[in-house]
Amino acid sequence: MHNAAVTTTPCIIRAALPSDEPAWRQLWRGYCDFYEAPVPDEVTNRTWKRILDPDAQVMCLVAEVEGKVYGFANCVVHENTWETQAVCYLEDLYVTPSGRGRGIGGSLLEWLRNAMRAEGWARLYWMTKADNAQARRLYDRFAQTDDFVRYVIRQK
Ligand SMILES: CC(C)(COP(=O)(O)OP(=O)(O)OC[C@H]1O[C@@H](n2cnc3c(N)ncnc32)[C@H](O)[C@@H]1OP(=O)(O)O)[C@@H](O)C(=O)NCCC(=O)NCCS
Repeated sequence: MHNAAVTTTPCIIRAALPSDEPAWRQLWRGYCDFYEAPVPDEVTNRTWKRILDPDAQVMCLVAEVEGKVYGFANCVVHENTWETQAVCYLEDLYVTPSGRGRGIGGSLLEWLRNAMRAEGWARLYWMTKADNAQARRLYDRFAQTDDFVRYVIRQK
């Protein structure tokens, strides 16, 4: 069942606060389930800790409608060798199923695009699975893919 508040009320995008922990953890579980990824508690705990740490490069935005958090964007702002400015990597984007299709994901991306301009990041970038059609429809409204492919060597 959709929440009527989400359709009529503007969505507030803001940095995550300590009080968002239960909502973030619930959404994070949904996100990990979406990827069928068994993320250990120790990783989740560390990620949340870094989100709240002003000295960490990880940041998290939450999307709130009528006091309820419906989605998040976890990002890492890091240096790069091609420009003098930092760049922002959007690592995780998630909107709870009952909140989808109402512009919440778009609002999170819009906020980040504005932050890129305000903070002077050289770019905002992200990856998604080639067959994630739902996400890609949204992303195609914001950016174009380039012709880089990802190579990965894993520890195990
Ligand atoms: C991808 C994801 C974050 C998108 O979130 P969302 O809140 O549904 O995104 P939006 O609502 O902004 O945009 C998605 C669709 O809603 C439409 N939409 C945007 N604003 C809207 C509004 N105000 N009213 C109705 N529909 C709207 C968009 O046009 C788009 O639909 P379309 O592409 O079919 O035309 C969400 O589907 C999700 O969490 N998926 C699972 C996890 C995932 O795939 N994450 C990305 C991994 S890289």
